[in-house]
Amino acid sequence: ASQSLTSESKSQLSQLPEPKRLSFPDTSSRPTKAVPFQLPTQVISFSYTPEHVQEFTNSALRYFSEPPLGAQLGYGYERWIRRPEERGRIDSLLKAFDRVKNEGKSPVSLDDIGVVSWRGVMTRILTAPYEDQDGWEMNVMFVNGTMYLEEHLTEAKLHEKYVFYSLGVLVFVTEALTHRNNMEPRHRKFMYYGYAFESFCTSEKPPDSGPAKSSSSTALHPTAPTGWGGDIDTNVQWCSVVRTKLGDIRLVIGGEVDCVRGKYTGNTDTFVELKTSIVIRNEQSEAKFEKKLLKFYFQSFLLGVPEILVGFRTVSGQLSTTQSFKTIEIPRMVRGKLGAWDPAICLDWGYQFLTFLKDTVTKGDPENVWRVKFLPKRGVHVTRLDSAEVAVVENGEERKGILPFWYWARIRA
Ligand code: A3P
Ligand code: MG
Ligand code: MG
Repeated sequence: ASQSLTSESKSQLSQLPEPKRLSFPDTSSRPTKAVPFQLPTQVISFSYTPEHVQEFTNSALRYFSEPPLGAQLGYGYERWIRRPEERGRIDSLLKAFDRVKNEGKSPVSLDDIGVVSWRGVMTRILTAPYEDQDGWEMNVMFVNGTMYLEEHLTEAKLHEKYVFYSLGVLVFVTEALTHRNNMEPRHRKFMYYGYAFESFCTSEKPPDSGPAKSSSSTALHPTAPTGWGGDIDTNVQWCSVVRTKLGDIRLVIGGEVDCVRGKYTGNTDTFVELKTSIVIRNEQSEAKFEKKLLKFYFQSFLLGVPEILVGFRTVSGQLSTTQSFKTIEIPRMVRGKLGAWDPAICLDWGYQFLTFLKDTVTKGDPENVWRVKFLPKRGVHVTRLDSAEVAVVENGEERKGILPFWYWARIRA
């Protein structure tokens, strides 16, 4: 069992003096001055093996290959190897950051980094002005001038995901009980369609390296349809770590990259993000898609991914068409539309958010862990966690708050 940030008891949160609240921008008016965002530069990449072990190779890198239209995205569902849900720790990102810093091989300076986080957390922050449904929480530490951010999954959320991801039998039992639970297995299937699309779109080998799309290392299942790139194992991931800048704040961001088009250059220029979405049938579903593009856009933008390939599928998971979007052109495409959004509002908000957060956390000690809570349409508030709530040992590994102890010892030495 882990001693970690588990207690949700509000009474244990020590209240702070000002400032601790930040309310939302009015999304109907454009900021007068745009906050610049620097083109991201890759500083290091790494892979996760099927055992989900991090290694500093490109073994999990995949190459784009045109998917066959009409493909069934439910193919191979029963053989899906699913990675268990876990806390959004930044340990492997810190390993990569530490490695590139100490090897001194980074193409750009890694001094004065203001923020280290996974791309998913940054996407949540930047898209918050338009988020009117899902709240989120994160944990923050501020050490030697750098803020470390991690997603905070509440016990309730972890449990919900656990049940949701459980064995078919358990889900089947709850499915019979209520209409609401009926949604869950369907949702899981939709999620699988996304991964199956990735398989149909990728190959382990670069183009023109031989006729076989699939690999020597992983044999294809005998029933594999044309274009199938191999069965889904969500343990396996290829990640890119980039350095960029929002206003005057330098950021180190890590995230998964789906594949590269053509060849891998060691930078972000051939990266491709793969997405699935339901086919657009009317104005309403078009507006819905345009709203979704906000997340697609920032998810890709933050890592410098220049292309997003969307596979439009039917409700039953058949691939109808694909469309490639140039990431930087997306904001112009949605301007003036029903589901319109403005990235300038997001960047301005993101800068305000990080500045506010820094102003708050500088008032504490490096050991402190801070909890940020976001409420849709309302804003965010920050509290400092009681030291009793902060992890000391987790899964047998010593920690200092949200940081693994080895990393803490290194930067505090
Ligand atoms: P699609 O979004 O294409 O349907 P990513 O697109 O980020 O590379 O993630 C690959 C797939 O993982 C997604 O495919 C989706 O099926 C699933 N996925 C990723 N993040 C998810 C989330 N927060 N909730 C549910 N499914 C998610
Ligand atoms: Mg992905
Ligand atoms: Mg994707």
